[in-house]
Amino acid sequence: MSSLDFLDRLDDIKPTSILVAPQPVLSQVARAVKPEDMTALREALPGMFSAMYKAPGIGLAAPQVGISQRFVLVDVADEGAARNPMVLINPEIIESTETLAAREEGCLSLPNQYAEVIRPESIRVRYRNLAGETIEQDASGLLATCIQHEIDHLDGILFVDHLSSLKRNMVMRRLAKEQKRKR
Ligand code: NI
Repeated sequence: MSSLDFLDRLDDIKPTSILVAPQPVLSQVARAVKPEDMTALREALPGMFSAMYKAPGIGLAAPQVGISQRFVLVDVADEGAARNPMVLINPEIIESTETLAAREEGCLSLPNQYAEVIRPESIRVRYRNLAGETIEQDASGLLATCIQHEIDHLDGILFVDHLSSLKRNMVMRRLAKEQKRKR
């Protein structure tokens, strides 16, 4: 975990700005991370972790900070508990249960908007970590939801895209109205 040493001094790290929908990069399919991307990826991590923890959020995908590459950050540790940061590079869901679970989701790119989304309850995900190792991991509950939500971002999908178009439009209109008021 030595490459995440910056987490000890996160308060001094400027959070990267998170894009708010609608933004073209949030609807694009991100490209795979290549070995030659790793230096820039490592450089992007401190600002991204800072932004995620400050929000606070439990996940952040690269497209949300304008990087159209396939990597995501996840930390579903309870508030106040020890941090459990994960960086998933080129993640893929290789198995998912037929059992579905409904869970209320939000998104840092859709601030203050929440809706129940139905997804497989448990998954198996394959990804590369920062050390370049291929990891296969089972996840269920909140972690499974979070990983699926973040991988969706890499395919240009927001949680509202899982809702009926009626509900989706309602959320997007409410968001636009709130963002306008903030300016
Ligand atoms: Ni999101």
